[in-house]
Amino acid sequence: MNVLLLGSGGREHALAWKLSQSPQLGKLYVAPGSDAIAQYAERLPIKALDVPGLIAACKEKSVGLVVIGPEDPLAAGVADALRAAGLMVFGPNKEAAQLESSKSFAKEFMTKHGVPTARWERHNSFEMAKAALRNFPDGVVVKADGLAAGKGVRVCHAPSTAEGALEEIMVKLAHGDAGSSVVLEELMEGPEVSLLGLCDGKRFLPLPPASDHKRLMDGDEGPNTGGMGVIAPSPYFSADMLPAVEKNIIAPILRGLAKDKLDFRGLLYIGLMMTPAGPRVLEFNCRFGDPETQAVLTLLDDDLLVLLERTACAQLPAQAPLWHGAAVTVVLASEGYPMHPVLGRPITGLAEAAARPGVLVFHAGTVREDGIWKTSGGRVLGVTGAGKDPAEARQRAYAAADLIEFEGVQLRRDIGKIPARHS
Ligand code: AMP
Ligand code: GLY
Repeated sequence: MNVLLLGSGGREHALAWKLSQSPQLGKLYVAPGSDAIAQYAERLPIKALDVPGLIAACKEKSVGLVVIGPEDPLAAGVADALRAAGLMVFGPNKEAAQLESSKSFAKEFMTKHGVPTARWERHNSFEMAKAALRNFPDGVVVKADGLAAGKGVRVCHAPSTAEGALEEIMVKLAHGDAGSSVVLEELMEGPEVSLLGLCDGKRFLPLPPASDHKRLMDGDEGPNTGGMGVIAPSPYFSADMLPAVEKNIIAPILRGLAKDKLDFRGLLYIGLMMTPAGPRVLEFNCRFGDPETQAVLTLLDDDLLVLLERTACAQLPAQAPLWHGAAVTVVLASEGYPMHPVLGRPITGLAEAAARPGVLVFHAGTVREDGIWKTSGGRVLGVTGAGKDPAEARQRAYAAADLIEFEGVQLRRDIGKIPARHS
């Protein structure tokens, strides 16, 4: 089967790596892809939102499955349009993708179907939102309602910080239209787990649970980012917790998808907070996590192409995918990330790092010019170490990361370490 993958980041590099191992794969195409992904796939110069261009390419190249990597095309209805043209697609329809693209849609879904989550209110007037802060005396989380690349959330312990956050999001429109309405949420405490699963609307097959590290600096200090590193399996989620999560969280989600007639055939990412009162859902994403995917896929024993194809045609088996070992992904980010990343810096040591045992170097933001790799994004690389246990995975990831250099590189040194407050 020929496959077209949409996207160009570290997640798509990992997806391309894993798909390329499938004996079922004919030819892999990627649009628009990156210089690094070109190692596994032929690049097509088509933008992810160019539906007529995508349909024409799929017909010309006899593509049997389109895999949509990022959230923007899903939120824009690209899956619907490709399905309407008779193509098989991995990725939810626009309506179901609102589970990610609208915070209030996701919260309404959870309230309606009894999925445990933080108490919340939605407001589209700054004055009303400001007045409502008094309903959250123990701290509040202010969220831009729309898509904001993972950056539209402010965790506020004090009311004055919350007022500032509301002003920034609703008045100064720091995230554009995404902030014309906000969701206010009760502040919860606990470690976080990303539970990624293949979902065909009837079943949810979990992949290894992972923990992302969202803050820029060691010890969870500094600003929120798209994610600075991952450990999988998560130290906060053991196999014996799965039955309760299946009963209390996954079952109501699946019932809700069916009741609301949401066409979800793709990856459902359930962001959990492990609170003292049990797991609560923080958010949904409707696509593979980045950088979770870079760690999780290295553990997977099963054929990814078969899993994605069966999701796309709503025929997932009952058996969850098999996996083994542990993986740690360390993100190397540009100077100035996340606010003002500096680009165009030459990178050295990539080949040496990738040659180490158990190591994969996934490219998130690089270009190759005249044979030299250069930085081209905020998050540049996801250096992944896989091993028999978390200690070996960490050691491998950091030993490889230390071989790679570019000016101004930022990385955390504590990916996969359990902080004292959670141990
Ligand atoms: P979200 O995009 O909704 O997952 O929010 C981004 C990050 O903000 C989460 O990964 C949490 O670290 C934090 N966060 C979101 N909602 C809450 C909440 N209700 N209580 C505490 N922290 C939260
Ligand atoms: N790593 C967080 C995300 O993919 O949204």
